[in-house]
Amino acid sequence: MLDDQAALERVDAHATRDVLAAFPAQCRTAAALHPEPAPPGIRPRAVIAAGMGGSAAGGDVVAACALERLDVPIVVHRGYGLPALARPDTLVVASSYSGETAEVVSALETALARGVPAVAITSGGRLARLAEQARVPRVALPGGLMPRMALGFLVFPLLATLDAVGLTVASEAEIAEALGALDALAGVLGPARGAASNEAKQLALAIGDAVPVIYGGPLTGASAYRWKTDLEENAKTFALSGTLPEMNHNEIEAWRAPAGKGLHLVLLRDRDEGGAIARRFALVREMCATVAAGVSEVWGRGEGPLARLLSLAYLGQWTSYYLAILRGEDPWLVPTLEALKSRMASDERR
Ligand code: PA5
Repeated sequence: MLDDQAALERVDAHATRDVLAAFPAQCRTAAALHPEPAPPGIRPRAVIAAGMGGSAAGGDVVAACALERLDVPIVVHRGYGLPALARPDTLVVASSYSGETAEVVSALETALARGVPAVAITSGGRLARLAEQARVPRVALPGGLMPRMALGFLVFPLLATLDAVGLTVASEAEIAEALGALDALAGVLGPARGAASNEAKQLALAIGDAVPVIYGGPLTGASAYRWKTDLEENAKTFALSGTLPEMNHNEIEAWRAPAGKGLHLVLLRDRDEGGAIARRFALVREMCATVAAGVSEVWGRGEGPLARLLSLAYLGQWTSYYLAILRGEDPWLVPTLEALKSRMASDERR
């Protein structure tokens, strides 16, 4: 079915395939965006990246890339308000693709109330209006996408914002490498490439009716969570995610028959994971394979952490897309999520 263009177009009624195919171009556009006006170039003591769902994913990618680079912590904050860490010597970056997310608006309101320097990354909505009123620097994003499909617009402007305050997470060469890796992947993961040589189609077919379980390592754990959320929203399936070595100390115990028989394990590997983590992946694979419905292993592309993480995220987007097609779900639509948001919004107006 995945190689039958007409069948694929019937399920993908909103042409999500075109948005995913344009992801490298989105990243290229996003890499040219900056906050305006420029934030004061004072190096913060910590960064709080506030966002929810797809708009928090940019913070996860950047925080993972920064782990071995920056002596300043990047805390991804998912929720209302801000943690106590947010003080005038920190920086808050409030990201909401739509600009209508109540939690992120409340994070910016809290930053303003506490005198914490802030930047907003959004295509519009309440967040853009608040930023404009309070003269908060803003990266203005183009609209029209589903937030989870706007990952490029949430990663690159955050990198540019951090760079503007003296926190360089990825060099220009690493950004160029990541863009090149995505270009190369677009050519081999799209619908025109047959399942026989398309890694994303093969993964979706391997997962089939099973529940996907995605495990990453110290760097790729951030990607594992992103795969889980893309699978949930695009394919409308439960999915689990975890990180090595932590899952060796708890979740590994849950891999028993009969529950494990309904799970398909996907391991997100990384060239720099190190010998101890590689050994742990090998053991997890060996122990889970005896009960799992299946096991797959994938690797990030490129040298720099940004290329490796974004290439894994892109593979995950396409895998969740093809799994949606196989299960007869339009990958664009998220009716339950939207129903919950609109009920919350009407409660808040009362
Ligand atoms: O992918 C989605 O649509 C969601 O996870 C949204 O990202 C989330 O609800 C927050 O919305 P926004 O990204 O517009 O702030």
